[in-house]
Amino acid sequence: MHSLTSLHTFGLTAHSKQLISVDNDFSILEYIEGPLWVLGEGSNCIFLDDFDGSVIKIDSKGKTVEEFSDYYQLTVSSGENWHQLVRFCMQNNIFGLENLALIPGSVGAAPIQNIGAYGVELNQFIKEVVCTEISTGEKHILSNEECQFGYRDSVFKRHLAGKVIITQVVLHIPKRWQACNHYGELAKLKQPSPEQIFNQVIAIRKAKLPDPNEIGNAGSFFKNPLVSNKHYASLQCDWPDLPCFPVDHNSVKVPAAWLIDHLGFKGKQLGGIQCHPNQPLVLTNNGQGNGAELLEMARQIQTKVENTFSIHLENEVRLIGKKGLVML
Ligand code: EPU
Repeated sequence: MHSLTSLHTFGLTAHSKQLISVDNDFSILEYIEGPLWVLGEGSNCIFLDDFDGSVIKIDSKGKTVEEFSDYYQLTVSSGENWHQLVRFCMQNNIFGLENLALIPGSVGAAPIQNIGAYGVELNQFIKEVVCTEISTGEKHILSNEECQFGYRDSVFKRHLAGKVIITQVVLHIPKRWQACNHYGELAKLKQPSPEQIFNQVIAIRKAKLPDPNEIGNAGSFFKNPLVSNKHYASLQCDWPDLPCFPVDHNSVKVPAAWLIDHLGFKGKQLGGIQCHPNQPLVLTNNGQGNGAELLEMARQIQTKVENTFSIHLENEVRLIGKKGLVML
């Protein structure tokens, strides 16, 4: 049995039967039998229990940068750290990723949930994702369109879940830079430079979000739900302060943090699990929590939100039980 506790940032006690570290040679995959979980830095998945199979830890490293007339092309191995990549770009005057600074996790995991923050989503920069099919060892290159990106969503969470391992991500970063500073506190910056946005995003994240090195957490636990305009209008009759972000003609996104905050969960504890006192969309583990307590807390939030607002909250983090993915 191999401990997984330090391999996922939520830090629950869990083990796997096998733990295999893979650098650039993915041929080992052919010999693995039984349930398999592919792990980057473990910042968006939580092992609720001992996992009855093999965990593959992706440690492949390396990146190349090619310059074209109006963009840079970066080909990055999946085991590289995301924030280090953003920092590398800043140091080399390649701007565009600064809103995504300090997001925990690896480059290979980033397209799976299409990481996003402060008005920017990764899919804006993805040219291709290179992956290996687990059952055959065959290499596939998926175009941006084939990745079927959505809000915290992609084909890697759907049809290709458990079937491929992402080995490289190819980014196209335009040379023509435009500040994206309309979101929340970034709007205070007037005509900011990329460095100012980078520093401000880091400052906001440090102030609001708990550091996984200090307290176990996996970022936002739930997704911000999409509701129809009609549903939103009816909610506004009872809760005129309920904020929303436009999505399209028919629907808006509602901040799950507001719903959870409004129901009084902020700071609430259940065993070793806490709903974070500053950002209630984040659940934390004080080191003593277990999977049952986490599920109980998440289900209490989900049920109360459903009963009060008729909104179903979906988990954003991926929950892994004995046999694999667990639904809330
Ligand atoms: N809010 C409250 N009470 C609070 C905190 C927030 O009511 O205590 C409300 C406010 O109305 C606020 C709104 O929630 O304006 C949005 O809050 P915030 O800007 O903190 O962002 P979020 O919607 O909670 C999302 C992402 C974060 C990302 C931020 C910034 C999701 C699931 N989460 O959070 O991503 O950093 O926006 O772009 O979309 C992550 O995915 O792990 C993550 C941290």
